[in-house]
Amino acid sequence: MTAAVEADALVKKFGAFTAVDGIALMIPEGCVFGFLGPNGSGKSTTIRMLCGLLAPTSGRALVLGMPLSSGRELRARVGYMSQKFSLYPDLTVAENLDLYAGLYGLSGAGKRARTDEMLEFAGLEDRRRSLTSTLSGGARQKLALGCAILHRPRILFLDEPTGGVDPRSRREFWSVIYSLTRDGTTAIVTTHFMDEAEHCDRVAFIHSGRLLADDSPHSLRKRMPGFLYEISGHDTMTLLRDIAHRPGLPMIDASFFGAKLHLLFHSEYDFSGDPAFAGYESKRITPSMEDVFVRLVKSGAHAGGA
Ligand SMILES: Nc1ncnc2c1ncn2[C@@H]1O[C@H](COP(=O)(O)OP(=O)(O)OP(=O)(O)O)[C@@H](O)[C@H]1O
Ligand SMILES: [Mg+2]
Repeated sequence: MTAAVEADALVKKFGAFTAVDGIALMIPEGCVFGFLGPNGSGKSTTIRMLCGLLAPTSGRALVLGMPLSSGRELRARVGYMSQKFSLYPDLTVAENLDLYAGLYGLSGAGKRARTDEMLEFAGLEDRRRSLTSTLSGGARQKLALGCAILHRPRILFLDEPTGGVDPRSRREFWSVIYSLTRDGTTAIVTTHFMDEAEHCDRVAFIHSGRLLADDSPHSLRKRMPGFLYEISGHDTMTLLRDIAHRPGLPMIDASFFGAKLHLLFHSEYDFSGDPAFAGYESKRITPSMEDVFVRLVKSGAHAGGA
């Protein structure tokens, strides 16, 4: 199997600040690969290095077998949808497509056919003369994706493509991503929506520039030890203060998810027999990606072992 991306000890420093701190990756071709992490964790910086837009401070990476310094040759095979800027809002839909077509060196009948295809792909045939600023968030992101794939790249980097998009359009967007990977295109997608990890074949968790884990969502969930319970009630904060250091509770960890308290225990626990939990509702839950991420951060895990 060919690797779409192979990276080793990638580092990016901005002055004295290390934004990406020794990341190693092996992303197989044809998969949907998710980069998950909080704001400022280094997702965009990693993606921009892998696209050949930002030179690493140290380390090495091959993208489709090519070194990052390959320049034009690499960019011709790579599609990139940036987090901050990808479309001109004061140009029409068709003008934005034209602009990208020009950047990718398309011309003549080939260019017309491909831009028409992308209008259809984005469901914007009737909006070709509309100003891009008048499109909904979901439509705009589909157009941006259409622009990023005009030149039929083998590998697609999408930086927060579902940011500012409503939940229904987010789901739609993911089904478009799947349809692209069916023919072997690799999609590398960053998001800070933890639930979007479920859409990925593999997920890399990144925190403070470091890779905490890189695995399938299923295997990541299996790494959670013990039994996870969700406790809801009027004052879970006080509850936690009362039970935090109580001997006899099989506690591994406790975290808040909004007003709900998640308790990770070594063993099964009968809450109904414990007066401290009177008035609270408790249920055993399957760990979400957020639970897994929080656990990995707290245990200071590194890729390959938790
Ligand atoms: N050009 C730059 N100069 C200095 N610092 C930078 C630069 N680009 C990014 N950083 C810093 O590097 C860190 C990682 O930024 P990055 O944009 O990669 O994070 P991110 O995970 O994409 O965050 P977000 O979820 O907010 O998009 C941040 O602390 C950011 O402020
Ligand atoms: Mg970012």
